[in-house]
Amino acid sequence: MLNLEVDIKNATESTAEIVGEALLENIVVVIKDQKNLTPEDQVRFCKMIGEVENYHEHEGIKHFTKPIAVHENILRVTGEKDEDGKEGLFGHVSELDWHANQTSNKNRWPLIWLYAVKGSEGSVTSWLNMAKVWEDLPEHMKETAKTKQIWCGYEKGRVSESEYFFDHVGEKPFDIYHKNDAGVEGLYFPFLQIFNEEYDPFFDELKEFCLDPFYQYHHHWKDGDIVISEQWLSLHKRHEFAKMENRLLHRIAFDYRNIL
Ligand SMILES: [Fe+2]
Repeated sequence: MLNLEVDIKNATESTAEIVGEALLENIVVVIKDQKNLTPEDQVRFCKMIGEVENYHEHEGIKHFTKPIAVHENILRVTGEKDEDGKEGLFGHVSELDWHANQTSNKNRWPLIWLYAVKGSEGSVTSWLNMAKVWEDLPEHMKETAKTKQIWCGYEKGRVSESEYFFDHVGEKPFDIYHKNDAGVEGLYFPFLQIFNEEYDPFFDELKEFCLDPFYQYHHHWKDGDIVISEQWLSLHKRHEFAKMENRLLHRIAFDYRNIL
């Protein structure tokens, strides 16, 4: 995790490039004290780094994006009800266990932006850095990891009780060894979202290694905080939080094509 002091509202393209490059190198970047960012401020910054996911273009998921999209590029993560009585994305109080964004999707967005708008104090999200894990992984485990593939998907109850996602397994497997575009090596290993047909004891061994607290960063949210994370080489977990109805995060999915 890297803490950066940046003024997002007034950031220039060269600042965005610095943030994007730091993110690919460090996997998780934290920017604090960004009060009163509008949706437009947030999207403007992300668009300097890359293409941004657009929720008005996704016909297939329109039925669930209405209550959770607050802008064509922003989802609201909250238990707060909208005018129709609907919660945002992941509004439940209980833990949201280790996961990454859209694990089964080959064209998954590689970056996720989270901005604490209100009510975040007291809530905690943890990130697991799979590049750091890789650095310490014994050579024989690295060699084995390079031969392994996983089928990823979603099943209600594994990482969350959310009703937003269909239970599914993706169409193609992924290598668990991953090198990102900055040349950082690591593991794509969302261990709670693996649906391989055959049990593999290596995955248990690897999971145990990954869960060493040394590889975790715990973010204690304050309003105005931004956490951006690279989704191939990190997992994250939201801890149980009783006041989800008061907490509002804005979430943007994007890539880094403009800084390559
Ligand atoms: Fe998440």
